[in-house]
Amino acid sequence: TRKIIIDTDPGQDDAVAILLALASPELEVLGITAVAGNVPLELTARNARIVCELAGRPDIAVFAGCDRPMARSLVTAEYVHGKTGLDGHPLPEPRMPLRARHAVDFIIDTLRREPAGTVTLCALGPLTNLATAFERAPDIVERVGEVVLMGGAYFQVGNVTPAAEFNIYVDPEAAKIVFGAGVRLTVMPLDVTHKALVTRARLDAFRALGTRVGEAVAGWTDFFERYDLSKYGWEGAPLHDPTVIAWLLRPELFSGRFVNVEIETLSDLTRGMTVADWWGVTDRAPNATFMGDIDADGFFGLLTERLARL
Ligand code: BDR
Ligand code: CA
Repeated sequence: TRKIIIDTDPGQDDAVAILLALASPELEVLGITAVAGNVPLELTARNARIVCELAGRPDIAVFAGCDRPMARSLVTAEYVHGKTGLDGHPLPEPRMPLRARHAVDFIIDTLRREPAGTVTLCALGPLTNLATAFERAPDIVERVGEVVLMGGAYFQVGNVTPAAEFNIYVDPEAAKIVFGAGVRLTVMPLDVTHKALVTRARLDAFRALGTRVGEAVAGWTDFFERYDLSKYGWEGAPLHDPTVIAWLLRPELFSGRFVNVEIETLSDLTRGMTVADWWGVTDRAPNATFMGDIDADGFFGLLTERLARL
């Protein structure tokens, strides 16, 4: 099994990613660290616990992390996710406790404790917690097995501004630290997730599971990014964050390139842009495997089969 920490800002698609991880015996979830993003920290820390309880896993350790980006004020996305961040399927308030330790301390302690190279960091929101941990404890960077994150875009450019994807836009300084850290890095940008669309048929397959989890996922994905449907005019809304977990389980569903990716932090116009050297037109050293394509049917087949186990 592979040991992972899920750093997340749930978010309906984050919630589905957490469920996919908890349903997969190949993965051992060492802990879930919440970060401010789609909604404020108090709600993302609450939502992470709601999802663990839905999965029947109140034993999972959930930690609250940074409540705002490293150098900027927080930008949230209630217009996408609703006021709670998990609109679309109401669930009871969590009973499991939030752990007392700060998420950044949990990340640092875990990387120092576990054998070097054995812990994968899965980042599904702004990169504030990861970058803060790397800055505070530079010794952990070389102990990271790899970072797999949802964020950025190249051909699909942006969703929150014409140039930037939400997770990178919210904390570009943090993204710059993570992309520059020298860790093994795999990126699921909008180029991938805009091909992972929840069509009517895929949504019906969630509901047809006939379980509490199936109902919740159908309700969430039905609500989630209705906004995007009208924005893009597609036949389904993108399901971003579960692609990170799916890659750990079935990497053959994805293809991409190992290229140089730099983060724009200065320009007002393009702040948070992931400048990916897809065509190799610079001599800047590659630092990330930037995914470009996904087998969407394979992905949704895997997801539905795993959710059925919960
Ligand atoms: C990303 O932003 C959030 O709204 C989603 O949860 C996802 O992580 C997509 O741009
Ligand atoms: Ca997210």
